[in-house]
Amino acid sequence: MSAPNKSYDPVEVESLKPEEVDKARDAALAAFAAAADLDALHEAKVAHTGDRSPLALANREIGALPPHAKADAGKRVGQARGRVNQALAARREELEAERDARVLVEETVDVTLPWDRAPRGARHPLTTIGDRIADVFVAMGYEVADGPEVEAEWYNFDALNIAPDHPARTMQDTFFVQAADGTPDSGVVLRTHTSPVQIRTMLTRTPPIYVICPGRVYRTDELDATHTPVFAQVEGLAIDKGLTMAHLRGTLDHFASSMFGEGIVTRMRPSYFPFTEPSAEVDLQCFVCRGASVGDPDNPCRTCKSEGWIEWGGCGMVNPRVLVACGIDPEVYSGFAFGMGLERTLMFRHNVEDMRDMVEGDVRFTLPFGMEI
Ligand code: PHE
Repeated sequence: MSAPNKSYDPVEVESLKPEEVDKARDAALAAFAAAADLDALHEAKVAHTGDRSPLALANREIGALPPHAKADAGKRVGQARGRVNQALAARREELEAERDARVLVEETVDVTLPWDRAPRGARHPLTTIGDRIADVFVAMGYEVADGPEVEAEWYNFDALNIAPDHPARTMQDTFFVQAADGTPDSGVVLRTHTSPVQIRTMLTRTPPIYVICPGRVYRTDELDATHTPVFAQVEGLAIDKGLTMAHLRGTLDHFASSMFGEGIVTRMRPSYFPFTEPSAEVDLQCFVCRGASVGDPDNPCRTCKSEGWIEWGGCGMVNPRVLVACGIDPEVYSGFAFGMGLERTLMFRHNVEDMRDMVEGDVRFTLPFGMEI
């Protein structure tokens, strides 16, 4: 800044000359107009209105002018600065409006876009139906038991009175597990039914025993619409004093009506299982026609093929030899057992027509069941 000088001619101060003030003003206006965004505008603002900008420096010179010259120079610089500030504010408004419009576009949330690209899974219906069955039995005082799927042959066969020459032990039905050293006869199999859980339970608990066990089992079947090499069964076992076939019958009827509807009953057909004596096949009364389609060709039933009954599983009184193998005195205790396929149960209950749907893991099959808790 120049020192005060009474005789000073303002025109002699370079920065206060009209053309210099105009130049500084026009440079500022051009810089603001050229600023493409708010950051650039901020830089232009510092350069053209900041403390070291030409107009600020010129403004400071005014103080050193003689009084008569002050008004004129003050007016010139003041007008220029006013014009610059005005242009700055206008450009800022423009750029802010532009930014706001851009942000609105860039940050728009399209609420119509699908939100469930990674949909949540659903429990497999076999799990759900296993739980549902367990609930029915837990309500009757049963406990839920389980056992390994890779099972010792002794539990899967011997203890269940299935002699070594029983057909179920041939390669036809059973997956044998090879020993680590390559010996094929390792004494370990993938369990072919849930009945080994009966043995494990009787060996570890003392009667009275009431257990239910849903679980996965394996047989060397090809996968087709009605067979699968891995499927699920539910096993029931009751050991107590004085249990008879009548208790078994009542239990199965209650099971049937809980799963398929009030009043649905079961029937037994004589059969053979090495681990039960006597043994029976359990049929379920058709829960669609309830037997009404039998002998009525005008009203055929697709579910039971107009037979009135549907094969459901096996059952019987626990063979005393099995009780003995598990250290239970058959003179004191008796018991019953039953086993059903969960796939079949699910097929009836939900009209599933192809077993492959149950093993392929396609969520489109599983999802509609996922609403069940
Ligand atoms: N374990 C038998 C099967 O898999 C079913 C069954 C269970 C039969 C319990 C009688 C008693 O075929």
